[in-house]
Amino acid sequence: MKVQLTPNPQPLAADLRAAKIAEGGFGKYYTDNMVVAEWSEVDGWTDATLKPYGPITLDPATAVFHYGQEIFEGMKAYAQPDGGISLFRPEANALRFAKSAKRLALPEMPIDFFIDTVKELVKQDRAWVPGNIGESLYIRPFMIATEVGLGVRPSNKAMYLLIATPASAYFTSSKAVTVWISTEYVRAALGGTGEAKCGGNYAASLMAQKQAAAEGCDQVVWLDAKERRYVEEMGGMNLYFVKGTGADATILTPKLTGTLLPGITRDSILKVGEDLGYKVEETMLTIDDWRDGVASGEISEIFACGTAAVVSAVGAAKSAHGMWQTGNGEPGPITAAIRKRLLDIQHGVAEDTHGWNVRVC
Ligand code: PLP
Ligand code: COI
Repeated sequence: MKVQLTPNPQPLAADLRAAKIAEGGFGKYYTDNMVVAEWSEVDGWTDATLKPYGPITLDPATAVFHYGQEIFEGMKAYAQPDGGISLFRPEANALRFAKSAKRLALPEMPIDFFIDTVKELVKQDRAWVPGNIGESLYIRPFMIATEVGLGVRPSNKAMYLLIATPASAYFTSSKAVTVWISTEYVRAALGGTGEAKCGGNYAASLMAQKQAAAEGCDQVVWLDAKERRYVEEMGGMNLYFVKGTGADATILTPKLTGTLLPGITRDSILKVGEDLGYKVEETMLTIDDWRDGVASGEISEIFACGTAAVVSAVGAAKSAHGMWQTGNGEPGPITAAIRKRLLDIQHGVAEDTHGWNVRVC
């Protein structure tokens, strides 16, 4: 499968594009082009087409509108010091996309085909990649079930789309985010879709997000569905807890039990943390461990990590069982060091010892 190029003949004027990039934020403006490919049970994948960004037309009886058979990915392209552009671990996104597809009974896209579509869009719209460290082009591949009909069954047609948006910070402030630990709602149970990146997981989370906002919190923290004790992850990010301080610190992240999204940033931090000399651990941590660890001072920092959010400090935690605070509202030293090392690798400023960056142009 190839990517056929029929790019936008009238890309946005350079001054207007620069103004949009300068506005920053997350997901406000989209680049000049997008990529579309279609699949059917009979013919398999078509070639992909890179074409002007714009609306798509679908029959109201299209499966995705009714039964939510949809998956997506999130990845970024980063400006490099020599003016080139790199992707960060795109194969990991391609593999996770294929796993999500399998779970949602959608067709698995060949890894190279997925990566080629991303490379072609980034090459074509490279003028949209912001230049500063901490800024990037956020890339959103997704796939929807496109069979028309209301029968509940795996769709025999699917559409893959790829869009991109210039991004700066996901959170409007660099201050620590406050979190609402939900004991009423659950994100995922064993055997469910927690490990997959599917729209339904996020739709089901929004009521708790509303509750978090009503409690004055920025984000929801999810607990395990069975015992409602083990800390899993946040709305769109994995979590890390720092025990101890300085060179003796250990950074801990909840173990992948089958209900958490296996974050690529989470995985990268396991290695970056080690590179920086910290002990790293994947473990099970309860809400009581969190509260008591903060009270005793053993937990010195907490941060959330993900492609969109990068590394963001977590401060106050609130739940039906009380409220407690980690840090002083600013990112702690280990959070800041890990964030910096990760961004420096992604932007080609620190040596990419793990071979994570894939040059596009
Ligand atoms: N957990 C959830 C629920 C997410 O949506 C995301 C974002 O993609 C993550 C974790 C972090 O994953 P990654 O680091 O691959 O972006
Ligand atoms: C990402 O970090 O790529 C995400 O998908 C998180 C969120 C925007 C859903």
